[in-house]
Order: sequence, then C-alpha cells, then structure tokens
Amino acid sequence: MSYKHQVAEKIASALTSLGVDSFTMENVYAMLETPPNPAMGDIAFPCFQLAKALRKAPPMIAAELAGQIIGSPLKEAKAVGPYVNFFLDQEDVAIQVIGTILAQGSQYGDSNQGKGRKVPIDLSSPNIAKPFSMGHLRSTVIGNAIANIMEKQGYEPVRINHLGDWGTQFGKLIVAYRLWGDEAKVKAEPIKELLSLYVRFHEEVENDPTLEDQGREWFKKLEDGDAEAEHLWTWFREESLKEFMKIYDLMNVSFDSTNGEAFYNDKMDRVVTLLEEKGLLTESDGAMVVNLDEYNMPPCLIKKSDGATLYATRDLAAALFRHESYDFAKALYVVGNEQRLHFQQLYKVLEKMGYSWSADMHHIPFGMMLKDGKKMSTRKGKVVLLEEVLAQAIADVQKVIEEKNPSLANKEEVSRQVGVGAVIFHDLKNYRLNDINFSWEEMLTFEGETGPYVQYTHARACSLLRKGNYQPSSAASLTPGSLDGKEAWAVITLLNGFPEVIDRAAANFDPSQIGKYVIDLAQSFNKFYANVRILAEEEGIKASRLQLVAAVVCVLKEGLRLMGLAAPEEM
Ligand code: ARG
Repeated sequence: MSYKHQVAEKIASALTSLGVDSFTMENVYAMLETPPNPAMGDIAFPCFQLAKALRKAPPMIAAELAGQIIGSPLKEAKAVGPYVNFFLDQEDVAIQVIGTILAQGSQYGDSNQGKGRKVPIDLSSPNIAKPFSMGHLRSTVIGNAIANIMEKQGYEPVRINHLGDWGTQFGKLIVAYRLWGDEAKVKAEPIKELLSLYVRFHEEVENDPTLEDQGREWFKKLEDGDAEAEHLWTWFREESLKEFMKIYDLMNVSFDSTNGEAFYNDKMDRVVTLLEEKGLLTESDGAMVVNLDEYNMPPCLIKKSDGATLYATRDLAAALFRHESYDFAKALYVVGNEQRLHFQQLYKVLEKMGYSWSADMHHIPFGMMLKDGKKMSTRKGKVVLLEEVLAQAIADVQKVIEEKNPSLANKEEVSRQVGVGAVIFHDLKNYRLNDINFSWEEMLTFEGETGPYVQYTHARACSLLRKGNYQPSSAASLTPGSLDGKEAWAVITLLNGFPEVIDRAAANFDPSQIGKYVIDLAQSFNKFYANVRILAEEEGIKASRLQLVAAVVCVLKEGLRLMGLAAPEEM
C-alpha cells in the first residue's frame, strides 16, 4: 500500500472514532491534497466536507483530527486552519518503498483489477499489398503498449492483427496483375511492385472506365471462391505478410491472431441474416444499410447493390466473433482518429441489434504523424517506408555507439534496441490524440525527452551497481541518514507513484502517462546522481544508496518494457 493510502487509512479510522463512518479510505484518499510548499507538509487533508456531519467548524475538526493521527509513516500531523497537514517520516517511507520494489522486482505495480478476463486488442492491422504506413506504426506501438499495461493490471490481452486483406481493391489488383504484372518483380519487392500495379490501375482507369467494372467482377469472383482469384490473393497476402513480419521482428511485437478481414468472409451471411431478422436492414439505392438517423449519423453500409460486403460488414462479424470467442471484459480498437465515425456506427448497429456488450467496446483513436506540418503519407509515390525509418534510426545509433563506446559487447543488438526504442518513444511520449511532428533530431538525442535518454540513464544506473559491487537483496536495509536529501526524496516519491501511474495509463488507455513518468524518474535520478556521492561513501551509506539505485533500475526497466522498449544494461 502506498504511503498516501496508509495516511488515508489512518484518517478514515480517526473519522470513524469521531463518529463519522460515511468516509471510506478511498473517499479520503481522493480528498488528499499536496500543500503549496513542502515546508507546510507533504500531504494535506481539507476538513470542509466534514463540517455538516460533525456540526463543527472545519478548523476545530482539523485540530481534533491532528491530535489523533500519528505513527508510521508519519512524523507529525499539524492543524493549519481548516487543513490537517501531514509530515512524513521520510526514512520510514524510503524503507517501505525501496523494500517493496526490491522484494517485488518486475511485479511492482502489478494489480489484479482485470481478474484474468480477456481484452482483445485490435492493433496494427495494415493493408495487404500496400506499404506499412505511419498510422499503422502508431497503432502497433500504442496498441502493444496498451496490451502490456492491461496485462500488468491482471487482464489477458489478445493482440489481434486485423489485416486489411479483403475488399474491392483486391479485385482491382488482380486485374492490374493479370494485365501488367510480372511475377519475378513481385517476388523481389512485393509491396513496391503491388503498390505500383495499384497506382497504374488508377492511372489507366482514366482512359478505360471499364477497368472499374472488371475490378468489381474480380472481387466478386474472389468472394465466390474462384480458383485463380483466390490463388493470386493468397500469394499477394503471403508476400505482404513476409514484409510486415520484418517490421514486427525489428520491433519485437507479436500477435495472438492475424485473422484479417478475409477471415470473416464466411461469417458475414450470419450478420446479414441477423440484421434482417431484427428488422434493421433497409434498402437505399439498391444497397442494404442500417439506418442511423436517430443518432444523426449516416447509414451504415452492409451490402452493396452487387451483393459485395463492406468493411463495416466484416467489422460486425468480427465483433460477434470476438464476443463469442473471448467473452471479453473490454474490446479495444487502436485505429486512427479518421475512422471515428466508422466505430461509432459499428457500436450503434450492435446496440440496435440488442447487444449490451457493445458498451464494452472502445475505439482508441490517435492523431497523425506529420512531417514539416504535413501528413506523412504513403500515397502518390511519396512513400515513406517504415522499414527505412527504422533502419535509419538503428544506423544513427550505431554511429553514436561506434564513437562513444566502440568496445561495447553486442553493439548490433543494442543499436537495434535503442534505434527502435527511439522511434517507439517518440510516439508514446505524446498523448495519442495529438499529432506528432516527426523529427530525427528530437527522436535520437541522448539528452532530451527521448527513449535513448531513458535507456542511457538505465544503463548508467546499471553500471553504477556493477562498479559498486551491489549485492541484490529482497529487503531494504538503510543506514540512517543515507537518503535524507531532497534529491533522494524526489526519487522515492516518484518510485512510490509508479502503481498509480499504471492505473491512470490503463484507465485512459494512455501509454504517454508511462512515457512522461519514466522521463521524470530518469531526470530525477540523474539529479540525485549528480549531487549525491555514492561509490566514494563508506560501506553502509554506499550500500543504502545503491539500494535506491537498484530500485530505480527496476522501475525504469519495467516502465520501458510496458512501452515496448528494451532496457540494455550497457550502451
Ligand atoms: N486496415 C485498416 C486500415 O488500414 C485498419 C483496420 C482497423 N481495424 C478494424 N477492425 N477495423 O485503415
């Protein structure tokens, strides 16, 4: 239990003995404030809300409470006007916090809120035969971090790569390949080649509008199981997936399922039948739609006039499938903000179908990746290949390591961890809905608010432990006076706050909470390191301070892991 919770518990039980039992520990906890300056105390409890229950003026209540509350982790409780101000016994807190972290290790901050319930998370989900875009990178990075965070909260995340492997565009691609394609070229550079076939289709259609019809026909053939269509589609999918796997391998991301849109091909009839039975389908210009007028939304398209299904139809089938397969606590969709309406429509259709579990589905939207103020796009030739971005980041880090630490063991692996970490961190330190300005300088510096900075701080702390010959222990034993400076206290309060940061990150599906936290912790640790002697101290003090360093190493590593970054011990 954090020291703040301990104080809240003391206040709650003092209130009970004063005859007020309507305030639980959690109520009190939520009322706690931080005094405007540390000289006034570490925690403040305002008594205004108690005036009614106790029929007394708040300052009198504060005085009474202050007289009753004492004991670990408190040094003193003082009434100041309507507030009770509490002074913590910092040494006591230090022992508790560091002791808990050393004992729990990477499990520090774990909770069982999720009770093992499943949370399918739809993430990454790139489109076959198209380049892996910045948006897909954002979805991958944010979704993976949310999965880690949910897992830490006791849920069982199910990472689903809902590949965009179905739709009319595959009809067009088949037409283009049959007309202008070259097998060897596709094999050599699948994504590049398939993309250029697709682009060519759109150029040629200007002169030959019948191409559109051919595309539609071939997609229909594909949906009806035509052998040639299916053969080509399978091949495009496999080649594309091979390329995507390179990126996932670099990023160390894996999936529990790669059931993409095509997987729902044989599960859509059921959706259409259900919609029909429930009287929700209406005809509009020959197409079948679910009307959403009452929510001021455009209708949700279920079937085109030629009978072809749509993106939304497949998402409806996927929602039913996930509900049946996972009996989920929540289902998340980490998809760009531009699809907001699509998910609103999806949830409304499910609600109209009578599925109350649609309330447990959440679209987790995110903003765009900008370069020089413009969207980093993969269209119209201006392709930013993600693999190239990652390769560049890794190469840049490798250069720095070659310069600063040429004798480092496994340079290649560390460069990958730091280069990829830089890209991930650059994304996750910002609140996901904010657009991000893609900047090499900002991403790769070892000094700013970056992944490399946090990783480097972690590695420095590890080297401190090595040099100090730190002996791992699972309990804190601190020499009095060894951690009494303000620099140590700043680190200890941050360490104490880690579990709450995870709670907030999980509740808001917001990995940037962890990103900001690890930056704060790294900065605060570096201040401690710069101002407090460690290795040159006598044994007892040195050992105590190394225990704080070990706790920092543990929490930085775990924070980075949650975000999807490795924490090399040397760099
Ligand atoms: N493939 C889609 C795209 O790139 C994203 C799919 C998101 N997931 C979903 N269930 N709709 O835009």
